[in-house]
Amino acid sequence: MTEPDEAEDRVAGHGSLDRELPIGVFDSGIGGLTVVRELLRALPRERIVYLGDTARVPYGTRSANTIVRYARGCARTLAADGIKALVVACNTVSAVALDILRVELDLPVLGVVEPGARAAVAVTRGRVGVIGTASTVGSGAYPRAIAACDTRCEVFTQAAPLLVPLAEEGWTDGDVPRLAARRYLAPLAAADIDTLVLGCTHYPLLRTVLETESAYLAARAVHVVDSGQAVAIEVARFLAERELLAARDPLAPEAALRLLVTDLPGRFSEAAARFLGDAAPVAHAEQIDLPSG
Ligand code: DGL
Repeated sequence: MTEPDEAEDRVAGHGSLDRELPIGVFDSGIGGLTVVRELLRALPRERIVYLGDTARVPYGTRSANTIVRYARGCARTLAADGIKALVVACNTVSAVALDILRVELDLPVLGVVEPGARAAVAVTRGRVGVIGTASTVGSGAYPRAIAACDTRCEVFTQAAPLLVPLAEEGWTDGDVPRLAARRYLAPLAAADIDTLVLGCTHYPLLRTVLETESAYLAARAVHVVDSGQAVAIEVARFLAERELLAARDPLAPEAALRLLVTDLPGRFSEAAARFLGDAAPVAHAEQIDLPSG
């Protein structure tokens, strides 16, 4: 459980953080808005600047070196913009590049893997399944983070890449997502998991299907853990403990959410509402260029 301590070190080394600065959040694309949705619900006084690297999505099929290079570009751009903390919404980046970003940035950096692992350990009876991108699963980050909390837990992982485009297209119910979910979940059900971690930004949109199929295959209810929800709770606690919570009026006309993307801002703005739910009115996304890392 290194995350809060390491993020705390960043604060200790950077006592001049301004509580009214926004929180920076980035992801490979639009999926990280599921994390923004949870942050806005948990922290309605905060402003968030979100960067989606839509020109280079997906990250989940890429090599670790490439993911680190892309993550650096996103993180440095947000840090230069003025933020009080960085939330890495992308599970793939959290799994592969978080330690490097923490060393390189002079800011608290929080990822989704450790909060998701802690939330799973809190509810499981000892058998945890994790679904994520090929890179997240290949990194072994979730089994490591879960073992750091409780060595008695058995962890079973499964890459579920097709669920990303299904969520992007809004195919979140019906036969197609149901069959894809069943195929990916079958090996985890055979391993007799009692808890399933949604280890990818996109999977919360398919939560109902994943919950239903897990229960069907296991013939009993399975706990479903959303790592985005878990990180929102930890970010709220982290900011409160360091007296970094904003005092902004949540009803102030100033927009709570600024959206930056690296390609296709119009398409992003259209799809954003589906990912954000009723958490915030969708602002028009601005297109930016990233430094090549
Ligand atoms: N944001 C990625 C994640 O949470 C999923 C999409 C991608 O592969 O870039 O792992």
